[in-house]
Amino acid sequence: MNIIHVEKLKKSFGEIKAVKEVSFDVEEGEIFGLLGPNGAGKSTIIKILVTILKKDGGTATINNFDVEKEQNKVRESVGIIFQDPSLDERLTAWENLYFHSKFYHVPSREIKNRINNSLDLVDLSERKKEIVINFSGGMKRRLEIARGIIHTPKVLFLDEPTIGLDPQTRKYIWQYLVDLRDKQKLTMFLTTHYMEEAEICDRIAIMDHGNIIALDTPENLKRSIQNDIITLVTDNNIGFSILVKEKFNIETTFNNGTLEVPVSNGKTFLPKLFEIAGGRILSADIKKPSLEDVFIKLTGRKIREEEASKRDKLRDSVKRRRRT
Ligand SMILES: Nc1ncnc2c1ncn2[C@@H]1O[C@H](COP(=O)(O)OP(=O)(O)OP(=O)(O)O)[C@@H](O)[C@H]1O
Ligand SMILES: [Mg+2]
Repeated sequence: MNIIHVEKLKKSFGEIKAVKEVSFDVEEGEIFGLLGPNGAGKSTIIKILVTILKKDGGTATINNFDVEKEQNKVRESVGIIFQDPSLDERLTAWENLYFHSKFYHVPSREIKNRINNSLDLVDLSERKKEIVINFSGGMKRRLEIARGIIHTPKVLFLDEPTIGLDPQTRKYIWQYLVDLRDKQKLTMFLTTHYMEEAEICDRIAIMDHGNIIALDTPENLKRSIQNDIITLVTDNNIGFSILVKEKFNIETTFNNGTLEVPVSNGKTFLPKLFEIAGGRILSADIKKPSLEDVFIKLTGRKIREEEASKRDKLRDSVKRRRRT
């Protein structure tokens, strides 16, 4: 069954066409990822689906409820983890969950159990009486996940669930989410620009400039570009890049001091590179394409996750300063 149905969805902000006629379906129980650079339109789609933002055109249903005509039913069907933190930091973990349960009309006799269960799921039971301001970034995110599921939604929306967290914490958050999917059969709809996180999704839609430019399983997306990448370290990467272009008409890219050469078969092509190199290759490796490579192939540029996360951190710190 399709739990999310989106057809020709459109949204502009003045001149900016944030979402241009986007269509897709998500099946119940799937982990579905929207992957794309800053400003691609990911958060805009989530906001429309959870009824925070009005669309300009097209249709969208969640759990068979129309996002505009049946807003209340849609709100009951979804849990949301926003891109920007949204806990009340002056309250304890328990109180945050309690007020959320009240807001979502969780039956009074069930509230205590539900809070305890969801705190258990994210390993925060022992800290439930502490005020949230003392929590680390990862703990706050876990608490938001607990809050997102307390009214037993059908779909959990996660907008950049691990932005700004260190790699270790990101890994833990993912363990909780995958666990949650397995235990509760939740459908998850998430956005990210961390490639390795996108790998966890059952299917991925790659977005750029308001359009979905590819949609498939991670495996199929990677297979579709039919490339291996030969990574080289040479005594002069720029010079060698020009040579490869001259000899084989292949466009190479520079990445962290290495030169990447996309070829259809790495094993058979590597000897050809050594042939023209005359001892200039210092080391060589062959890797299978990543989702980042898929994005580069489709758009001609990188997703630039470093810049993106720097920008997000900056935005968060500006917000914090404004609040205080
Ligand atoms: N409320 C708004 N008013 C004006 N423009 C907006 C508004 N919200 C989003 N936009 C613009 O719409 C485009 C899509 O923004 P959106 O937040 O959906 O991108 P995103 O893919 O979530 O990016 P990020 O990875 O940075 O979170 C951007 O150009 C953004 O500036
Ligand atoms: Mg966003």
